[in-house]
Order: sequence, then structure tokens, then C-alpha cells
Amino acid sequence: MLNTIFFWIFTLLGWLAGLLFLLFAYFFIQDLRQTKSAIRRNFPLIGRLRYFLEGQGAYFRQYFLSHEREEMPFNRATRSWVYRKSKGLQGMIGFGSTYDLNEAGAVIFVNSPYPKLEEERQPAHSLVIGEYCNTPFYAQQIVNISGMSYGALSKRAVQALSLGAEKSGAWLNTGEGGMSDYHREANADLIFQIGTAKFGVRDEKGRLSPQKLKEVAKVEQVRAFEIKLSQGAKPGKGGMLPGIKVNAEIARIRGIPIGQDVMSPNRHPEIASPDDLLDMIAQIRDITGKPVGFKTVIGNERYPESFAEAILRRGVDSAPDFITIDGGEGGSGAAPQILADHVGLSLTEALPMVDNIFHEAGLRDRIRLIASGKLVTADQVAWALCVGADFTVTGRGFLFSLGCIQSMQCHLDTCPTGITTQNPRLQKGLDIINKSERVANYATQINQDLDVIAHSCGLSCAHDFNRNHVRIVQKPGKSISLNELYPLPKTNKSRFLKT
Ligand SMILES: Cc1cc2nc3c(=O)[nH]c(=O)nc-3n(C[C@H](O)[C@H](O)[C@H](O)COP(=O)(O)O)c2cc1C
Repeated sequence: MLNTIFFWIFTLLGWLAGLLFLLFAYFFIQDLRQTKSAIRRNFPLIGRLRYFLEGQGAYFRQYFLSHEREEMPFNRATRSWVYRKSKGLQGMIGFGSTYDLNEAGAVIFVNSPYPKLEEERQPAHSLVIGEYCNTPFYAQQIVNISGMSYGALSKRAVQALSLGAEKSGAWLNTGEGGMSDYHREANADLIFQIGTAKFGVRDEKGRLSPQKLKEVAKVEQVRAFEIKLSQGAKPGKGGMLPGIKVNAEIARIRGIPIGQDVMSPNRHPEIASPDDLLDMIAQIRDITGKPVGFKTVIGNERYPESFAEAILRRGVDSAPDFITIDGGEGGSGAAPQILADHVGLSLTEALPMVDNIFHEAGLRDRIRLIASGKLVTADQVAWALCVGADFTVTGRGFLFSLGCIQSMQCHLDTCPTGITTQNPRLQKGLDIINKSERVANYATQINQDLDVIAHSCGLSCAHDFNRNHVRIVQKPGKSISLNELYPLPKTNKSRFLKT
């Protein structure tokens, strides 16, 4: 009798194990064959478990784990917003907001008693950069893709960004690694970045090569050039690409040995003053006929003031066509933590400072301001536009749209989503077409949501924001208008010409 019972129990368990095995084998093959999730494709079954646990996370966190607005650099609420927008979903919530309107620094937009009716709404129009150049650039979108090189990013990631940029009308900055074929996968507008090592436009001694620059400028989709002075995550350090990411193709594009760490110079050797910078801007604009600007981190007022002074002394025609202000909170493919944590002003402080200085110098209409530094949701972008930015760019926002899960491994070549790795096995998980659609959805929807805030403030479109449209909470129950916090100065050129 006992023998029969054991027999049936073991037979049943055997069947169960067999069924489970078949089920897991089915899930395994399904994970491998699907193209929507890079994590599941690269890590069949285990990746599925991650998504299952993430789904249950809301219940666990509610009782004993972190709050959804606690994680750094980007909390779950922010990331979820980007994921939803990338999937083309609406940003609806039920019950109420978890955003704390009483916390110091909270951003509150000033709603109008008479918001725009649906039929009065207008999408933001395109804006020209480099109006006085031979070939001005008419930028279609307000939010665009920040510089991230092929090398820091995988080729599939760059291809997906290129396709998504073309579809949405956002521009794609090449980053400092030069222009690869992957940046030209689609016909998106490109801004060619010239880093301190001048990859793509350097001569054999590492100086700017006018011939190579001319060749790049002939590519119609290259709309403008950005000289990179510094980036928020590592002011004072040049680009760093760990040797493990330098494969044969990247080595060929950059003209460097395979497998060796790439350390770009800490600055452009020929730029050590505002006049040197203006000389290089003039040189590149003369050679290319296209708009030229630069990207920088701000330390204090002195540097933008001395730059404004140099422009006024040399004449307004010497001004750059745009300046990209990168906040100290900016991201990087690889950066020393000590610089990332402690050097360079945050965008919150740097953007109003620079905008005010160029207003006072009477140069603000001549120079477009582009802002970056954790501007990944529409409210943060709207804040930057209220302060004075004309455009914003984001790197990590678009990485999230590609499926980044903030595993913080960009410098290790082990990115599990195939975005910041040159490992072909991990890259396999990233489906270019699927992710390009997410890139395009995110770009389109963040730009649309900007207009939603603008219409609520009674404005026709997002270009009309100014400092009266936003209030910043100082302490619980006390917010003040950004206009009071950072009043716009009157034009006073003589102050600069005296210094
Ligand atoms: C993986 C990665 C690679 C980057 N590569 C570059 C680069 O080549 N050139 C550059 O100027 N900035 C680079 N950045 C910085 C971004 O362009 C951007 O300035 C910064 O991350 C701030 O924007 P965000 O907070 O929206 O990401 C990189 C950032 C990341 C995350």
C-alpha cells in the first residue's frame, strides 16, 4: 500500500517537474526570440524574473523598501514617467500625486484662470540657430538628444537613436567620438561635437584639420558644430573611454590603438582664454559656413562675464551661435567620482546666472542657450525654458527610452541592456527598430507635454515661457516667483567693457 502511494507521489512529482521543465524551456525560447526587452533577450528567464519582481516591487516598497522618489541619480517616479512616454502611453495617474509640493526646491507652475482651449493650442514652432551663418539650422524640437559618443554607446544604441531622432524631428549630437555610419543610419539632424581630442577632424598631430572639417561640413545632415570645453560630470577632465570598450572599429574611427584606454586632453590645447575660444569659433564657422557653439560647465560668474566682455570688445559678429550649459549633475560614460560629485555648478544655479549675464551684455538675442543636466521630464524642461533656455538636451532621458535600467555600469562594458557596451552578446538584446520607436515616442511626447504645461499657464506654446510662469518652494508653505528669485537685469554693456 505504502509503496503504491510513494509510486504515485513520485510519478506525479516527475510529471510536474517535466511540465515545469517544458514551461521554462518555452519561456526561455520566448525570451530569446522576442525583441521588445533587451534584458530578457540577453538573460532569458532571469530577466523575466527581474520584471516580475519589479512589478511586485510597488507592494514590497510600500511597506519596507525605498520610497519611489528616493533613488539617485533618477528616482523610480521619474524613470517610470520616461518609460511610459517611451512606450507611447499617457502620463495619467490615479488617486493623486506623490510629488511633495512643500519640499524646498519644488517647482510649481503658475496656472492661468483662462487656460488655452484645445482649438487655441499651437505646437512649438521651429527655432533658428545661427541666423547669420551661410547655412542656418532650423531646429524643429525643443528637447533633443545630448552628445554621447559611439564608443561610450553601442552601435545598436546609436542606430536606434538616429532612427528615433529622424522620426521625431529631434537633433542628435554625435558626442566627442566623431561621426560614425551609425549616426547616419537615418537622416536625422546632427550636431557634430568636437571634443578635446578632435576625433574625426584631427590631423596626425592631434590639431584641428581644416580639410577634414570641410569634409564633415559637406554632409548635409550635419547642421552645426559644438566645441566641447567640458561636461558636467567631469569638468577639467577630457573624454575617457576604457580600453575594454575600444574595439577594432572604434579604434579605426578615432585613429587610436585597439584595447587601450583613451584619455582625451583636459582642454583643447589651443584654447586657454575667451579670445582663443572666439578664434576657434570663427575658424570653424569660416570653414564650414554652419552654426558653431560650445558646451561648458560653469564654476562661477567670472568666466561667462569675461567671455561676454571679449565678444563685446571684438564685435557681436564674433559671438557663438549657441552655448550649451551642462549642469554639474550631468552624466557620463566614465568619470572620476570626485569630479562628478563635487566640481561644477548645478544647472539650477548656472542657467539663470549665464542667462542674466548675457542679458546684461545685450547678447542674449544673438546667442541661443541650450541647457542640460537631468532635464528628463517635461516639468524640468519647462523650468529651464522659464529661466531662459531656448532648447534642452538630455542624454540619460534617451538612455531610459532605449531601455536603460540605471544599473550604473556604463564604464565597465557590462551594461545589461546592450546600450553602453561593446560586448556583442549583450548588444544582441537591443532591438534597433523597437527601441527607435521608443526614442521617437519619448521625444515626441516630452515635447507635447511641454505644451500641455504651457497651455495650462495660458500660453499658446512652450516658447512663450518666462520667469513669471514658475514658482520655487523655499520652505513648507512658501513659494516665490522665479522672477523674484532671479530678477532679469537691465542691459548694461558698459559694465563689461570696464572689467
Ligand atoms: C553614456 C554617456 C556618454 C556621454 N558622452 C558624452 C560625450 O561624448 N560628450 C559630451 O559632451 N557629453 C557626454 N555625455 C554627457 C551628456 O551629453 C550630458 O551632457 C549629461 O549627461 C547631462 O544630461 P542628462 O542629465 O540629461 O544625461 C555622456 C553621458 C552619458 C550618460
